[in-house]
Amino acid sequence: MINYRTKYGRFSDDGKEFIITTPRTPRPWINVISNGDYGLTVSQAGSGYSWRTHAQLNRLTRWEQDLIKDEWGKYIYLRDEKGNIWSAGWKPVCSEPDSYRCRHGVGYTIIEAANFGIETELLIFVPNDDPVEIWQLTVRNRSRRVRTLNLFSFFEWGLGQSPDSHREFHKLFIETAYDANAYTLFATKRLWEVPTERGHWNTNWPYVAFHSSSLKPVSYDADKESFIGMYGNQSMPAGVKSKKLGKRTGNWLDAIASLHHQVVLQPNEETSICYTLGCADSKTRAFDMIARYRSTDEVEAALDEVHTRWNTMLDTVTVSTPDDAMNIMENVWLKYQAISGRMWGRTAYYQTGGAFGFRDQLQDSQLWLPIDPDRTKAQLLLHARHQFKDGSVFHWWHPLSEVGLRNQISDNLLWMPFVLYAYLQETNDLSILDLHEPFADDPVTMSIYVHCCRAIDRALEQFSDRGLPLIGGGDWNDGLSAVGLDMKGESIWLGHFTHRILLDFSEIADRHGDTERSVQYKERAHNLCNKLNTLAWDGEYYYGATKDSGKKIGSKENTEGKVWLNAQTWAIIAGVSDSERGEQIMDVVEEKLECEIGPLLLSPAYKTIDKYVGYLTRYSPGMRENGGVYTHAATWAVMAEAMLGRGESAYRMYSELCPINRGKQPDTYVAEPYVTAGNIEGPDSTFFGRGGWTWYSGSAAWLFKVGLEWVLGIRATMEGLLIDPCIPSSWKGYCVKRTFRGVVYNIEVKNPDHVQCGVEELWVDGRRHCMTKGPRNKTLPLYDAGTAHEVIVVLGQ
Ligand code: GLC
Repeated sequence: MINYRTKYGRFSDDGKEFIITTPRTPRPWINVISNGDYGLTVSQAGSGYSWRTHAQLNRLTRWEQDLIKDEWGKYIYLRDEKGNIWSAGWKPVCSEPDSYRCRHGVGYTIIEAANFGIETELLIFVPNDDPVEIWQLTVRNRSRRVRTLNLFSFFEWGLGQSPDSHREFHKLFIETAYDANAYTLFATKRLWEVPTERGHWNTNWPYVAFHSSSLKPVSYDADKESFIGMYGNQSMPAGVKSKKLGKRTGNWLDAIASLHHQVVLQPNEETSICYTLGCADSKTRAFDMIARYRSTDEVEAALDEVHTRWNTMLDTVTVSTPDDAMNIMENVWLKYQAISGRMWGRTAYYQTGGAFGFRDQLQDSQLWLPIDPDRTKAQLLLHARHQFKDGSVFHWWHPLSEVGLRNQISDNLLWMPFVLYAYLQETNDLSILDLHEPFADDPVTMSIYVHCCRAIDRALEQFSDRGLPLIGGGDWNDGLSAVGLDMKGESIWLGHFTHRILLDFSEIADRHGDTERSVQYKERAHNLCNKLNTLAWDGEYYYGATKDSGKKIGSKENTEGKVWLNAQTWAIIAGVSDSERGEQIMDVVEEKLECEIGPLLLSPAYKTIDKYVGYLTRYSPGMRENGGVYTHAATWAVMAEAMLGRGESAYRMYSELCPINRGKQPDTYVAEPYVTAGNIEGPDSTFFGRGGWTWYSGSAAWLFKVGLEWVLGIRATMEGLLIDPCIPSSWKGYCVKRTFRGVVYNIEVKNPDHVQCGVEELWVDGRRHCMTKGPRNKTLPLYDAGTAHEVIVVLGQ
């Protein structure tokens, strides 16, 4: 396997680690580690933050968003007998280490460094089932003399809402205490920024935070002033310099946590200390965790469990193609990013979140389908509970406080039936339709079927007189925030999307015995399709939208934002355009939007602010939705190309988006090469090709999906698992292991004639299947759950 080495790092041989070889990467290159409740971020420099359940409402440690300095974190300082001071990560001391490696893995990070003859190895991870993080620090004496080291941990308590912009206020509610027997600093807070029934901010922060260690501390401090020193600096704190901590705890401080240890090491001797930082429901639970993770055996067992859980999730579906970059992304990092970063952590460096986006995490949850579809189901049920009885939904909501935002964005509600259909394709589990959930404003429960019908019916009410859907305060593209605030402007993409939903849901209605609705939706779809192909056609492609004024945008009539990507790709995905028109619009996409970094969301970028389009036009040209590659939407171009059977184009676009390929020019791209960026700057930016907004992006789940389902062509349908490759003709073949409805299919695709698509022969367990010539794809037979089958697919003309 290729390691994709650059001057900043490379992948490990199995692709499961990215090994950064210098702390000076062009941006913080981070890991987002979460067990689904507790989580942390850690950068290659050793900075980052921790939270439980919600990274904004329940942040444990302080962190300010500053991607240039990257100097908020949880740190360990080392001080030797000569007074040399350094840290286990590069920050905050930033000494020049003799060697430095940061290995970001799946569920853990290891930072290895050598300074002044001392090697340190800092392993950071979160056990599967406890709200705690573990830092296991191993210190080795590589010098020829006995060394006496003083070690100091340090971070600032946040305990609640972040950023903690009014620290002088919030610090007044934090209480700290030291328990000498437990080697632990405790912290609680007597105020939490969540509204209560009787007004706001009048409740305790309901947890007990702790910082503990396996080794007995020689001293400690919970006071920032005594630790850092007045007007001091965290790169050289007073406490570390003087080897003396203030032992100050109580209520009246600017609360931090620091534990001080001393170790003496003979030449070549090593020792390990396990630190914990956690957020327990009670003091009893805190003591349980403190005691448990004091033992090295327990820590090792917990780490093994983390590896096992991740490997089980990652290995359920794997691919082996001629493209190592695709293999690494599909097998490891896209899944990891989507699960750990987007669905569990819901936070990163470019965006610290914690909320659930109605459409965001629903789309992400498609990633679970081939791995553990029950989790997609749970996500659907969760979102159903955040729908209102009139069918509308929250745009996003905060777990813990259940505060949410309702707005005029028009597409959110339709993602529920969209993901439901995908769930049914995977599982054929129609029983989900009869599961009952309440509404956000009504405790009376209704079936998921009714929830979805209400969403669709509400969407169908919001149409213009001429029969196209209203855009309201934006469609999938949030930045189109002012196009239709007067409820007159229309969205063409939403028209396509609605068409897809109507067709799919009419199938569901049919299977649910609701023939009337099925027929009605089919008719609506038919009419909508006609309207889109007449009213929304701009001559060579579909325009993007109409404003409240009736003026077109995303049209040849405009000078900026002339062509929009989503209005083209979804015409194909939604079955609105026929294949001839489909070819035509994807030719336009290739000609006018695609560049070497992928297809732009629109072009040219808006340079003039248009307050009747929205904040999209206020972004610097080429950034994010304003003429950058918006990776999430760009993945839909891969899908559209594959639907047309254009394997070369589909794969080319996949490769353009693939962060490993972008990362081959790390000083241009700057972002992590192992996770997708939310956006890559387009040609209208001075920094064409610069990636940003990594980790917290809906593109991870979608890139995984389009790679597996549309390029490699292994996808779930109601009838069974379909084989429909759409690959570059140069590929000789590839393999996919896919679990589907409890059956393991080991699929080998051969391409002796070097075609892009078309299944010629299908062999299952040595027997030829589906001998007759049919369409370009084939469905595999269904088998009993628990069985495994060998499939050989031969492509041909
Ligand atoms: C952001 C939003 C997402 C939206 C996208 C495009 O990523 O979280 O919901 O679809 O921007 O504007």
